[in-house]
Amino acid sequence: MSRPRVVVTRKMPKAVEDRLRAADLDVTFNEDDTPYTRDRLIAALQDADGLLLAVSDVIDGPLLDAGGKRRAQIVANFGVGVNHIDLDAAKARGVIVTNTPGVLTDATADLALALILAATRRMSEMEAVLRRGEWGGFSPTADLGMSLQGKTLGVIGMGRIGQATARRAVLGFGMTAIHFNRSAVGPFDFPAEARPSIEDVMAEADVITLHTPGGGANSGLVSAARIALMKPTAYLVNTARGDVIDEPALIAALKSGRIAGAGLDVFAKEPHVPAEFLTIPSVTLLPHIGSATLETRTAMGMLAAENLIAHFSGQPLPSQVV
Ligand code: DGY
Repeated sequence: MSRPRVVVTRKMPKAVEDRLRAADLDVTFNEDDTPYTRDRLIAALQDADGLLLAVSDVIDGPLLDAGGKRRAQIVANFGVGVNHIDLDAAKARGVIVTNTPGVLTDATADLALALILAATRRMSEMEAVLRRGEWGGFSPTADLGMSLQGKTLGVIGMGRIGQATARRAVLGFGMTAIHFNRSAVGPFDFPAEARPSIEDVMAEADVITLHTPGGGANSGLVSAARIALMKPTAYLVNTARGDVIDEPALIAALKSGRIAGAGLDVFAKEPHVPAEFLTIPSVTLLPHIGSATLETRTAMGMLAAENLIAHFSGQPLPSQVV
């Protein structure tokens, strides 16, 4: 009997590719890491029994139906966020979707803290001054940021990553945490108080950090009206999904100085970054590196691989979404 065919759409850490090579699968890798076009994805869905794909691969109903001869029964996502996959369309067609929860919690929370510090200590802005040769030397009153101790962190989306970020901020940096989550969560192993609405968190926090899924009802969640509730001294940090923020509204708030600053690791239409962000000194911009450590990316790839291996050997799937 021929072995199940799997297409891996992006280059994986070596240990992950070794694991897949050692499995009883016929695997096609992406040696040069060129992102798949829509046509190439359609061809892969027709040629293979399963795909290991990433956030750069958009999967929707028309794509799953294209050509009318899809072979793939499972797509294993390299990542926890699955807003690039139309889950209803997959479910309706009996296509299994898996993701990688848990293994990237710490790395992403670490990066959220890095962005909180970068924004509140004006790190990108100050480094740019230095790199341009414009630093005039130490001054007691210049280049001042905001201390985190005693300030309020507002977490929107208190799942695994939101909790890990709050834990670091409270236990490590002396912040007070408040949060909004759609369903009741807690108790936690650190103090954090729930607020009844996103508006409450936006208005009360000194630093707001976003940890909701993207897409659907969460698209534009941090709207112009909600940004307008922020204190003028407050900062907004996003390591979740870019579409959660109304980007033009955030650009306007930053440009006018309505809020103090922001730290963004994600954008609505990646890899496109709105040009206006690049001109605003008070925003730190990173290229979606929340989970980008070798250890974490290896663990994510291993979990995606284990989902495929389990599927093709008739075992329960470690992390099935639909
Ligand atoms: C995730 O896991 O969702 C990360 O953002 C990588 O896509």
